[in-house]
Amino acid sequence: MPERLPTPLPRGERCIAPDEIHIWTVPLCVDPAELIRLGGMLSDSERERAARYLYAPAREQFAITRARLRLLLARYLGLDPTRVTFGTSNTGKPTLPGTPLSFNVSHTRGLALIALAVGLELGVDVESVREQPTHLEMATRYFTPGEARRLNALPPTESVRAFFHVWTRKEAFLKAIGLGLSHGLERFEVSVPPDEPCRLLHIDGDAEVAAKWTLMNLELDAGHVGALAVEGLGYRVRVRGWET
Ligand SMILES: CC(C)(COP(=O)(O)OP(=O)(O)OC[C@H]1O[C@@H](n2cnc3c(N)ncnc32)[C@H](O)[C@@H]1OP(=O)(O)O)[C@@H](O)C(=O)NCCC(=O)NCCS
Repeated sequence: MPERLPTPLPRGERCIAPDEIHIWTVPLCVDPAELIRLGGMLSDSERERAARYLYAPAREQFAITRARLRLLLARYLGLDPTRVTFGTSNTGKPTLPGTPLSFNVSHTRGLALIALAVGLELGVDVESVREQPTHLEMATRYFTPGEARRLNALPPTESVRAFFHVWTRKEAFLKAIGLGLSHGLERFEVSVPPDEPCRLLHIDGDAEVAAKWTLMNLELDAGHVGALAVEGLGYRVRVRGWET
């Protein structure tokens, strides 16, 4: 399958203003020939990492996302995709050393999200909405009591989707601050859809600090929900599909 991202990006598309965040939605279904082509863009260590995934769909999800991340970053940085060099923060968050770009990535069944900005610590998360018989038990165990209570109050037809919204909001925040799930999902609270606007309610009990964060839903296809978290307010968020 031919590469469908326009080459080169229209003039100006590679530029991100300081108040702008670019989000790319990246479909992860490819034919076998494209999978081989994308695999050829990975570094040795990425190939080794891919090989450690025993479950083939997870291996392919990682490889396709990473190759398309390389393609996209290459366009913004004016480099060959194989020459994009990744680093990591001291908490393991991937970085682009020596460049002004910051990014964050999330991938799930069928879809990846790539968020890009200049000098902002971004977090994105995407989940496929699926049957989750234990979602209310998980909410009670891992979320704040307020989040769990509001999810429990929803009709069963709404609570699974709302659970995944809450999950993506919380994980996007953790990824923005560069920490993983072990930091504690119960240490901060997010709003619960469908009735409340998407926002961070408190961080370690502090509502004032939370109000300085942008937390937003990303409109995706019917089978996926996603969220973006970034400290600060008033950003212009541009969401683009890979094929456009
Ligand atoms: C980071 C984490 C939240 C990602 O969640 P996930 O649902 O497994 O996966 P997602 O698809 O949403 O995100 C994966 C991407 O997040 C990014 N990522 C990895 N570590 C990250 C971190 N510390 N902060 C922000 N983003 C991170 C990577 O780009 C990764 O992509 P890759 O797997 O293709 O390399 C989860 O794996 C985790 O909790 N890891 C533990 C990290 C940790 O505890 N670090 C603290 C050490 S002090």
